[in-house]
Amino acid sequence: MTAILTHDFAASAGLDPFAGSAVPRCLVVDDEPRLRQILVRVMRADGFVVDEASNGFEALAQMEAHPSTLILTDIEMPQMDGFALLRELRVRWPDAAVMMISGNGDVQTAVSCLSVGALDYLTKPFHLDEVRARITSVLERRRLVLENREYQTRLEQKVQAQARRIEQQFLGGVQALAEALEAKDPYTHGHSVRVSQYGTAIARRLELPPNVIRAVTLGGRLHDIGKIGVREEILSKPARLTTEEYAHVMTHMTVGWKILSAMVVDQPELLNIVRYHHERMDGAGLPDGVKGADIPLEARIVSVADSFDAMTSGRRYRDDGGKQLPEALKELRRCAGTQFDPDCVNAFVDAFQSGDVTLLARVDLQQ
Ligand SMILES: [Fe+2]
Ligand SMILES: [Fe+2]
Repeated sequence: MTAILTHDFAASAGLDPFAGSAVPRCLVVDDEPRLRQILVRVMRADGFVVDEASNGFEALAQMEAHPSTLILTDIEMPQMDGFALLRELRVRWPDAAVMMISGNGDVQTAVSCLSVGALDYLTKPFHLDEVRARITSVLERRRLVLENREYQTRLEQKVQAQARRIEQQFLGGVQALAEALEAKDPYTHGHSVRVSQYGTAIARRLELPPNVIRAVTLGGRLHDIGKIGVREEILSKPARLTTEEYAHVMTHMTVGWKILSAMVVDQPELLNIVRYHHERMDGAGLPDGVKGADIPLEARIVSVADSFDAMTSGRRYRDDGGKQLPEALKELRRCAGTQFDPDCVNAFVDAFQSGDVTLLARVDLQQ
C-alpha cells in the first residue's frame, strides 16, 4: 500500500499554517458510520491524525477544536450539508484542502463544489486506491497554492522595500537641497534642523506613536522645502516684504507639497506637515484656512516649533538679537488657541522646563 503522505506533502509543512504539530490532521465528515469508518481507517493507515463528524455542524466544532489540513466531506447530510460546510470552511479556514464525496455523480454537482472552492470531487462508490491517488493530488495542489502565495508575498515585500529605498533616497536628496538653500542665509541657516528637534521634543512629550514622531523629525527638516520655488532675492531680502512678495513666499507650502507628493506615497504625515505648517487654530492661516482639530496634529506641532525658531533666531528679530527663551515661550502661550494648538504649546513648555530640550543656538555665518 502506497502511503498518501508523500515526501512532497511533508515538505510543504513549513508553509502550512496548520502545521502546529508534526502529524497532519484530517477530518472525515459523513453521516453514514460505515463509510466514514472506512475512510477514517484509510487515512489513519496513511499517517494522519483523524477526526470525524456526521454533519457540517459537528465538522465545524471539530475544526474549531483542532483545525485539519484536509477535509473529506460527504455532500448529502442532515442538519448542515456538505455545500454549506464547504462555504463556511472557505471563509474560516481558506487554506484547508476540501475534497467532496457524493452519491450523486452528476456533473452539475461537481462543478458547483469546485466553483465554491473544493479542490476535488469524488463519487460513491469509490475504490480506495482512487481515493489515495486523488488525496495525494489534492494535497500537492494545496502545497503549490501555498507556495505560490508565499512567493507573491515575498515579491510584494521586496517591491515595497525597494519603493521605500527609492523614497528614502529621494527624501535624502530633497533634504540636502533644503539645507543648501538655508545655508546661503544666516537667518535661516540651521532652521530646519532646529525645527525638527523642537518638533520631535513636542511629539515625544505628547507620547505620540513612533511613526508620527519620526514623521515630525523628518517633516521638520523638510517643512520649508517649497522655498526652492521662491525667488532668491525675496528670500534674502533684509527689508520688510511687500504684500505681493509675502504672498509669493507663502506659496512655499503648496509648492513643497506638490514636490513631495509626486514621490512620497507612504507618509501622509510628512505631506501634512509640509502643506499645513502655516495654518492657524482660528482658521486664519494658509494655504487652506483649515481650523482647529482639522489641522493635522503633526502640522500643529511643527507650527509651534517653526514659529518658536523664527522668534529666537529669525530675521524678524535680528535687531534685538532674538527673543530670549522666557519671552518666546510667553508669546507661544499668548497665541495658544488662536494661532497654536494649546496642547502642543504646553508640551513644548514642559519639554523646556524638564530639560528634554534646550534653546538651540543660531548658526553664525557673519565671519
Ligand atoms: Fe514655512
Ligand atoms: Fe519654517
